[in-house]
Amino acid sequence: MAEIALRNVCKQFDATHYGVKDFNLDIHDHEFVVFVGPSGCGKSTTLRLIAGLEEITDGELWIDGNLCNYLEPGERDMSMVFQHYALYPNMTVYGNIAYALKVRKLPKQEIDRKVREVADILEIGQLLDRKPVALSGGQKQRVAIGAAIVRQPKAFLMDEPLSNLDAKLRGQMRVELQKLHKQLNTTIIYVTHDQTEAMTLGTKIVVMKDGLIQQVDTPQQIYDNPINKFVAGFVGSPSMNFIECDVSVERDRTALIFAGTGPIRKVYLTGQHARHIGEKYDGRRVILGIRPEDIYEEADALEGGFAENSVDVEETVVTREMLGSEGILYFDEQQATCAVRLKPTNQTQVGEKLRLYFDMDRAHVFDMETEENLLYRKEW
Ligand SMILES: Nc1ncnc2c1ncn2[C@@H]1O[C@H](COP(=O)(O)OP(=O)(O)OP(=O)(O)O)[C@@H](O)[C@H]1O
Ligand SMILES: [Mg+2]
Repeated sequence: MAEIALRNVCKQFDATHYGVKDFNLDIHDHEFVVFVGPSGCGKSTTLRLIAGLEEITDGELWIDGNLCNYLEPGERDMSMVFQHYALYPNMTVYGNIAYALKVRKLPKQEIDRKVREVADILEIGQLLDRKPVALSGGQKQRVAIGAAIVRQPKAFLMDEPLSNLDAKLRGQMRVELQKLHKQLNTTIIYVTHDQTEAMTLGTKIVVMKDGLIQQVDTPQQIYDNPINKFVAGFVGSPSMNFIECDVSVERDRTALIFAGTGPIRKVYLTGQHARHIGEKYDGRRVILGIRPEDIYEEADALEGGFAENSVDVEETVVTREMLGSEGILYFDEQQATCAVRLKPTNQTQVGEKLRLYFDMDRAHVFDMETEENLLYRKEW
């Protein structure tokens, strides 16, 4: 059981420097919460505040209804796994996993049962007699996780536990962690800077930047309904394309005209917000955001019924990646490289022009100054 609540939590390192500012979050029992954001945004600091390894300078930390700001780490009943997992080199795998239970003076038989149970879950039963030096990176990581989960704490706190592993192992361990979460049925708070890891693992994602929470939501919501340009650009690969446009109301439609010189290229906003943005932003510049998979070739756009929303959007392909199941074509727009994800049958070569069609029902519009998503929906 763990209900963890952070209320206006701050970590101030000196007069002007905050690691985390005004952090508000409710973590419920059994949730898999992922803190994600670029290097230095305050992910580890927040985790360390929850663990009690750093002192909260302002705000409140509640665990199961108790104010815990001044509780020692050992009294918080949380188990941590770090990026640089610390195994005792002189102990066997068995000894490493059993250690926390021995310290708590559990009966030998019970220790043995628990260690074997954990080894079973992590599929390291055949390694119990080995020393850490004789393990691969992935195996060491499993042992470190085993040592953390053997004592069933209130919550697991994990700080980039997979970042030392190669891509393939990371993928495997991601699946293992998901299974583990289901099996243990416990709360996990997990830190990563890898958006794929966040999206695949989290039941709730906390996107952070400069010590501040940007958005807290499910992975799908973060992807489909980002609150601002930072969140929109942080999740998804290749990232969302951003194109500066001038808003122009034409009779009953709202057009976004690509900024820059050359032939006029434009797209039309759809839905109820089209009029609203037209009224508020007519004649002003905004940022159009569209994901690579929401751009289509003509045939698909005609089929989807949104071909007439894009006028003369023609781009020259600068790079082509064929990935078997899909093709990603890149073009330059406003000094940035944009990506479009098309069917692998598309044969447009580098240097050739390609007419593109945007599914404007899936587009986003951001304010130039505040970078807030003008189409963000509070209630989904
Ligand atoms: N002990 C400290 N004294 C002063 N500043 C610190 C201290 N620890 C962290 N910071 C600063 O607080 C900010 C947040 O650091 P934190 O380690 O939480 O970032 P992070 O999101 O975990 O980054 P990374 O992805 O690189 O691990 C950074 O600007 C960092 O330099
Ligand atoms: Mg960190």
